[in-house]
Amino acid sequence: MPDLILAGRPALVTGGASGLGRAAAVLLAAHGAEVMVGDIDVAAGEAVVAEINAAGGKAHFRRSDVTDRADVRRMVADAGDTMGGLSILMNNAMSNPRDDYGVDERWDTMIESGLSAYWAAATAAEPLLIRSGHGSIVQIASIAGARMGIEFASEAYCAAKAGILGLTRKLAKRLGPQGVRVNCIAPGVIKTPRLRWSGSDEPEFARRARKVTPLQRLGRAEEVAELVLFLASDRASFITGQDIAIDGGLSIATMFESVDLP
Ligand SMILES: NC(=O)c1ccc[n+]([C@@H]2O[C@H](COP(=O)([O-])OP(=O)(O)OC[C@H]3O[C@@H](n4cnc5c(N)ncnc54)[C@H](O)[C@@H]3O)[C@@H](O)[C@H]2O)c1
Repeated sequence: MPDLILAGRPALVTGGASGLGRAAAVLLAAHGAEVMVGDIDVAAGEAVVAEINAAGGKAHFRRSDVTDRADVRRMVADAGDTMGGLSILMNNAMSNPRDDYGVDERWDTMIESGLSAYWAAATAAEPLLIRSGHGSIVQIASIAGARMGIEFASEAYCAAKAGILGLTRKLAKRLGPQGVRVNCIAPGVIKTPRLRWSGSDEPEFARRARKVTPLQRLGRAEEVAELVLFLASDRASFITGQDIAIDGGLSIATMFESVDLP
C-alpha cells in the first residue's frame, strides 16, 4: 500500500495520456493525489483516467492542446474548478510538428508547445498553487539542450528544453516567498511511445544512447515518475529552482564510444 503523501492534493499533468505523463499521473494518484490528465489524445487520456479510477484513485480527463496558449490557460482554470484547487502542476506535453510543416512552423510548434505552454500553464496556475499552501511545479525538460548537445535532437527541441531551465529558476525565485516550489527534470533516453518503437526494433539512436550510458540501458517512465512524485511532495520541501538529470549517467559520459559502432 503506497504512502498517501499527496492525499487530497489536486494535480494537473499535461500530456498525461502516454509515456512520462501517464506514469506520473498513475503514481501521483496512487499516492493520494486527485489528478487531471490533460492531453490531445482523448481515447488514450480517458483510458488512463479509467485505469486510475478503477484502482480506487480519483482522476479526470480534459482534452487540451498545448500548441494553443488560450486553451492551456483554460485547462488550468478547468482543473482548479473541477478539483477545487491545484497543488501540483506537471508541465510535460510537447507537440511533435506535423511532417508537412516547413522549418519556421516546426520551430514555432516546438517553442510554443515545449516552452511557451509551460510558462502559460505555470503563470495561470500560480494563484491556485499559492492558495494551496504547498504548491509544486515539476517541468519536464531533457538532457538534450538542458545539459548537452545531442545529434538526434533538433535545434528547436534543444532550445525549448534549455529555456525550461531559465523559466524554472525565474519562477522559483519569484514564487518561493509565496510557498511554491518549482523544479525541472532532465530525462535522458526513456523508453516511451515518443521514441516510435515498434516491437523489438530498437531505433538506432536508442541503441547508441544505451551503449554510451554508464548504466548501459534506457530509462523507464516509472523511474521518472518516482522523481516527479518526490519533487511534487513535501519530501522535497527544501528543493526549488533545480534541474535534476535522470539519465543513467548519459549526460556525464563521453560520447567517443559511439565511433566504435558498425
Ligand atoms: N522519452 C524520452 O526519452 C524523453 C527524454 C527527455 C525528455 N522527454 C520529454 O518528456 C515529455 C513527454 O514525452 P514522452 O516520452 O512521455 O512522450 P509520449 O509521446 O509517450 O507522450 C506525450 C504525450 O503528449 C501528448 N501530446 C502531444 N502533443 C500534444 C498537444 N499538442 N497537446 C496536448 N498533448 C499533446 C501526446 O498525446 C502524448 O500523450 C516531452 O516533453 C519530452 O520532450 C522525453
